[in-house]
Amino acid sequence: MNFHIVTLPGDGIGPDVTHEAVRVLQDIAEKFGHTFTFEAHRIGGNAIDATGSALPQETLDACLKADAVLLGAVGGPKWDDPRAKTRPEDGLLAIRKGLGLYANLRPVKPHPALAFASPLREEKIHGVDFIVVRELTGGLYFGEPKERRKANGHVSAVDTLEYHDYEIRRIVDLAFKLARPRKKKLASVDKANVLASSRLWREIATEMAADYPDVKLDHVLVDTAAMRLVTAPASFDVIVTENTFGDILTDEAAVLVGSMGLLPSASLGQGTIGLYEPIHGSAPDIAGKGIANPLGSILSAAMLLRHSLHLETEAVTIERAVERALTDGCRTADIARQGERVLNTTQMTDEVIKRVQ
Ligand code: IPM
Ligand code: MN
Repeated sequence: MNFHIVTLPGDGIGPDVTHEAVRVLQDIAEKFGHTFTFEAHRIGGNAIDATGSALPQETLDACLKADAVLLGAVGGPKWDDPRAKTRPEDGLLAIRKGLGLYANLRPVKPHPALAFASPLREEKIHGVDFIVVRELTGGLYFGEPKERRKANGHVSAVDTLEYHDYEIRRIVDLAFKLARPRKKKLASVDKANVLASSRLWREIATEMAADYPDVKLDHVLVDTAAMRLVTAPASFDVIVTENTFGDILTDEAAVLVGSMGLLPSASLGQGTIGLYEPIHGSAPDIAGKGIANPLGSILSAAMLLRHSLHLETEAVTIERAVERALTDGCRTADIARQGERVLNTTQMTDEVIKRVQ
């Protein structure tokens, strides 16, 4: 089969890890008889420098024509001025909105060989295997009004947390569907004891549960969910939540697997186009040194094969190869114990490719 993939390497270690994920995809194409074409475009800080915009129109147009988009990371100290008109992160928000990517999937499944790397005791990590479904185009990130106000000699700032019924329905529906082939447990996370938007969220999720009698729905308050993620992370199966709660909880969840460098994500929407990116940031301190962990990006490429290209066998093949590399003791600096041999970005990818069979 023929597929066209747009890459958005971005800033910092984004280009380093995206390059490696592309190598793995090319290897998969060769071994399974597909043709993948790749086309790189700008996003984030480098796009601001080159064009003044964090998401140039040309980039968005290219993404709209692609079968899938693979993103590295955006941002860095160079563009950190809080008074700057445009920030690299604006590019990320604009592409989510521009491609209608309302669902962000972040699977969390620690590898047994890396349980030591988590700050939690190993027995708590045992059996952890859940996926967070984060709403991505609503809530505080996009709600209007969003502005500064001046009145009576004081300055105030306002953000708006708004959700429409259809926005809640489509994301909760996706979460129910994801729970079905898994352990059939859905935790809907909200703050219904305080927020009106959460009360609507909870009401709709409860209504929808009637369509999924085989899935057990629980409502969990976000503060309780934050606590349970560290006291009993293995109790979760699928978590669905609004944008800001999901942003915070997924960083918390990331530490369970031992390193941010390992986690992939998929952003999906109404169209067929999906965007895939590791959840780690641009890590400017190690950019260009060739030592970043490529596994988050490689596993994002596996999600791309699964969700956008519907190549499940190929996706599982990559995931198994990564698992085996870790089982066999392959380690980048972020997941190595003292005295262990440390691989660089390219060497780690080579080890994965060797195990793609
Ligand atoms: C993430 C990031 C982004 C977000 C930032 C960079 C805008 O933290 O993807 O989780 O808050 O969504
Ligand atoms: Mn985040």
